Amino acid sequence: MPRFEEKFIDELLSKINIVDVIGGYCQLNRRGGSYWACCPLPGHSERTPSFAVNEAGQFYKCFGCGRGGNAIKFVMEMESMDFADAVALLCEKAHIPLPATENDFKKEKETKQKYADKNRLYDLMREAALFYVSELSKPTGAKHREYISKRELTKKEVVAFGLGASPNYDKLVNHLASKGFTNEEMLASGAVQRSQEKGNYFDALAGRLIFPIIDNMNRVIAFGGRMLEKTDFAKYKNTGDTPIFNKRKTLYNLNILKKEKLRLGKLDYVIMVEGYMDTIALHKADFKNVVASMGTSLTVEQARLLKRYTDTVLICYDGDSAGQNATVRGLEILKANGLEVRIVAMPDGLDPDELISQRGRKAYEECLNNALPLIDFKLKIVKDSNDLTTISGKRKYVTESLKIIATCENESLQEELLKKLRDDSDLTYESLRRDLEKIKSGEEVTVSVEQSSAVTFSGTATETAERFILCCYVNGEDFAKEPLDEEYFSDKFRKELSQFLTAKILLGKQIEQDKLKDFAGEENLEELLKILSAFDNVSEKAKERYFKDCERALLNNAIKVKIQLLKAQFEAETEREKRTEIAKQLQALTLKLTKMR
Ligand code: CTP
Ligand code: MN
Repeated sequence: MPRFEEKFIDELLSKINIVDVIGGYCQLNRRGGSYWACCPLPGHSERTPSFAVNEAGQFYKCFGCGRGGNAIKFVMEMESMDFADAVALLCEKAHIPLPATENDFKKEKETKQKYADKNRLYDLMREAALFYVSELSKPTGAKHREYISKRELTKKEVVAFGLGASPNYDKLVNHLASKGFTNEEMLASGAVQRSQEKGNYFDALAGRLIFPIIDNMNRVIAFGGRMLEKTDFAKYKNTGDTPIFNKRKTLYNLNILKKEKLRLGKLDYVIMVEGYMDTIALHKADFKNVVASMGTSLTVEQARLLKRYTDTVLICYDGDSAGQNATVRGLEILKANGLEVRIVAMPDGLDPDELISQRGRKAYEECLNNALPLIDFKLKIVKDSNDLTTISGKRKYVTESLKIIATCENESLQEELLKKLRDDSDLTYESLRRDLEKIKSGEEVTVSVEQSSAVTFSGTATETAERFILCCYVNGEDFAKEPLDEEYFSDKFRKELSQFLTAKILLGKQIEQDKLKDFAGEENLEELLKILSAFDNVSEKAKERYFKDCERALLNNAIKVKIQLLKAQFEAETEREKRTEIAKQLQALTLKLTKMR
């Protein structure tokens, strides 16, 4: 960002009049020593004027929303610009040259020249956009119109997004020439290209459906063009970088986003999608606060841009693409620039446009409501990409997860994530905590998944837990004197065994292991052996703690199963009173579940 000398800013403010600047945005009425208007600032709408502009002091103040400042501040607010851009805009309007960054006349001249060129390019692009729009309603635009209706877009979207049609290779070039633009200007704008062999000039997006890319000052800066036919190759083609367009520094739909901000004030969130069509489909479904990254990975400039509109970005990329490394890096950039990032998962490989047209707005809204915070999303990727049934997969899962959790600055969130990891991994909270601290202090850790739990057994975590508990009963451990009901066990034999053991424990009787063999019988012998060897990988010290973990896991499971059952009952029940009763039970169980966490 260029730095301006204080002297220059003072000079600028003395040369412009705040009344003229603000008068360009709203109707000012003189009353006494000040001018008054209904507040034009983003997010404030009112019927009676409480917005005052003081000419003598060159400042504004709104008595309704409390905001105020000088002309630069006003432009920053109204245009969602940073300081430097606001200064540049005011300079341009007042025909004051921007100071050369170096005291160099040549440079200053170049800057001036550059500004003049840029304005020519803006004019050219505007002319081209109008041309494409008018071509859409001509006979040659029939194929384009057909495509538009196939994509279920109405006149409303076509107008809002300025969609157009390129008829062929030549017509745009001829049109721009007739409006006085030179071949050089056409080339510089990127809308026109020159053939290497024949040397002729042609429409870069010939034959395509045209999506103008419009900046936050409502200037057309580039075009995207879509092939009308089905194709996998170069489905879209975009204007390359030009003096007025840098793909990495802009986002699609900023013009409409800005209008939204003017209407609502700082936006609660902005949805970021990949494509033009996704943006338009969301707009049609009445989600206006959308931008598209146009398929590229995100940059610092884009993050800063977004930060002026919102504090929260909901990333809604196609199917799996959000999980890709480049994307996750982009999301880190957003976070590093102070944005809260949440990821919206799209089911079944659909993109937002497809989801809305196939399943409706409500289905999409549900996806938005289930958006995951960035850290949970990263944990989910790690979980999905490792095979938790193998020891090496599990070790990798736990280690990677701990590394992610270590980056979390919020203590209570960290604890919550650690508990979730405990439930998923079957390790104890304490051992995870210990490894986490090691990671935080920069130590390499090898998480010992075998040691702290009995995962070396085949079978699920629940089975492992059930076996360990039964083993404690068999061995008459002191901490296992209040046996669980059989209903907490998931398989027939373990249920029976728990009953058998419970009876003994409650009577204070010793359990003889050879009697167990008879009790089990031939068909359950293997399972019994697994139960009896459940202590093999657990140290003496860890037993009690592990027992508690296992017990909690089973209680948890049982509650979850009950909740499922009740939910099904609730759905099936038609009597109102009974439904209320079931709902109460559900609520109580849910509460119990959260308390156990
Ligand atoms: N894109 C591009 N060049 C391509 C493909 C994609 O510039 N060859 C950009 C476009 O901005 C496009 C976005 O990446 O809108 C997302 O691409 P994709 O998901 O393939 O397109 P969709 O938006 O789903 O387009 P459509 O529904 O029209 O197929
Ligand atoms: Mn699509």
